[in-house]
Amino acid sequence: MALYSEKVMDHFTHPRNVGIIEDASGVGEVGNAKCGDIMKIYLKIENDIIKDVKFETFGCGSAIASSSMATEMIKGKSIYEAMKLTNKAVAEALDGLPAHKMHCSVLAEEAIKNALEDYFKKNNIPYDAATLECEHVHE
Ligand code: FES
Repeated sequence: MALYSEKVMDHFTHPRNVGIIEDASGVGEVGNAKCGDIMKIYLKIENDIIKDVKFETFGCGSAIASSSMATEMIKGKSIYEAMKLTNKAVAEALDGLPAHKMHCSVLAEEAIKNALEDYFKKNNIPYDAATLECEHVHE
């Protein structure tokens, strides 16, 4: 069996939503200290809906595929739905990642949460309330 699924290869070779949003409502950046990879997510939010999302990833193929898939999964969704996105869901949507590459999908989840947190802070939305709202639907 090939190490990477066709979906991973597709999103790696044709990543969606690459770029930056100049007037982003929220920006998130995370890095993985071990591999040194960095991911940045830009969100354009209107009325709690993610109207647009872009990413820049300086990292491995799995990190690029994960950011591409994750941005597709939250586009058009509400910020509360986006808060619920887990790295597991991203990996599943990619038809799986090799075990030693699962941490790459964690970067995508964290970068999105980071960008949402930035948006909540900028708009004085209590972050706890937002987190609470998604907790009961988490599992
Ligand atoms: Fe670092 Fe994939 S090896 S994010």
